Amino acid sequence: MASLLVTGGAGFIGANFVHHWVRAHPGDRVVVLDALTYAGNLASLEPVKAHPGFAFVHGDIRTPGLAERLMREHEVTLLVHFAAESHVDRSIVGPDVFIETNVAGTHELLKAAQKVWLEEGSGAEVRFHHVSTDEVYGSLGPGDPPFTETTPYAPNSPYAASKAASDHLVRAYHHTYGLPVTTSNCSNNYGPFQFPEKLIPLMLVNALDGKPLPVYGDGLNIRDWLYVEDHCRAVERVILEGRVGETYNIGGRNQSTNLEIVRLVCLQVDEAFRADPDLSARFPHCPAAAERGTSNLITFVRDRPGHDRRYAIDAAKIERELGFYPVETFETALRKTVGWYLANEPWWRAVMDGSYRDWVRHQYGATAS
Ligand code: NAD
Ligand code: TYD
Repeated sequence: MASLLVTGGAGFIGANFVHHWVRAHPGDRVVVLDALTYAGNLASLEPVKAHPGFAFVHGDIRTPGLAERLMREHEVTLLVHFAAESHVDRSIVGPDVFIETNVAGTHELLKAAQKVWLEEGSGAEVRFHHVSTDEVYGSLGPGDPPFTETTPYAPNSPYAASKAASDHLVRAYHHTYGLPVTTSNCSNNYGPFQFPEKLIPLMLVNALDGKPLPVYGDGLNIRDWLYVEDHCRAVERVILEGRVGETYNIGGRNQSTNLEIVRLVCLQVDEAFRADPDLSARFPHCPAAAERGTSNLITFVRDRPGHDRRYAIDAAKIERELGFYPVETFETALRKTVGWYLANEPWWRAVMDGSYRDWVRHQYGATAS
């Protein structure tokens, strides 16, 4: 039986990972450590709340001694580190917290792991898995080959730079102290429980409310999109079978321009309204409710400063070494995602206006803090 400490488990990917892990490894203990920032929502952990091996700790990875205490208390053998400030636009207007959480916070966790596992260790097999991003590699030109694990780091935003710094610290703790680590660098994710500030859920909720769909610049920036459950399966594979000290790129082999993505979201919203007449009553401001194309809401706005033009992942290493391939296609997984947001309006309304905190108090009483 493994005992996991999952940081950032109330966020988008962390929550999906916890759902996946509990389904796939029901005998394991899973302790989530999360500060419940604007991006962390206990409502996203509702499906695993009753699982006997699950526990939630409301706390900050930057707090000295906290992770150390939890690792001893729960005899943690596997630390899976998702906690981060994760939105590029926020890092442009307020970079400090990105450095504090993503760099200093990661360092606190590394120090805790070194102390508990290496200095006081029981000899059990342990692993520190660090979840990172393809943005550490910088921006590609149209004809450049995709990022491999040996592409030099060239982060362009404060977010990307903070993640790059954390990757380097993880690497250094392996080389200097022998901490058993793995790192994964993944492309853009989408799916259930994503805070509607990232491209796909923002476009969806704006479309349903009949608000403009803000496309930055010319909309021709390219990202590689991966369904969140595929990312979680890939992380699981790296944890269970990845070589210690190695990094693995994870991607969907699915490069699209932002404009293509937004147009597809609009088409799928139109389809959903045609298939379900109740949607017009629920979302009367969506153009689809009046049988007009949702894409009429697309609005080109000022570009993001320093906007990376293109990301693309070469996933050959994880395919070759660990046999990992995504199971979803973009078309099917986007349909699932649109379906999820249509079926879970209370979740996204509550996380956007902050009222989920009242819901948390109601559901969990004092245990949330
Ligand atoms: P998210 O913003 O949805 O969630 C982050 C979580 O971390 C939240 O629950 C938040 O409350 C928690 N958190 C933030 N600061 C904390 C702190 N100081 N202490 C404890 N908890 C804290 O992020 P996400 O999209 O789920 O991303 C998770 C990880 O995956 C991040 O490390 C991110 O860099 C990486 N990643 C994300 C993507 C993507 O497309 N979203 C792609 C590749 C990699
Ligand atoms: P985002 O979801 O913020 O992810 P990242 O910046 O980490 O790739 O943005 C994805 C792409 O969509 C990026 O090129 C910026 C663009 N974008 C828009 O055009 N409009 C928006 O409102 C947002 C949030 C993003």
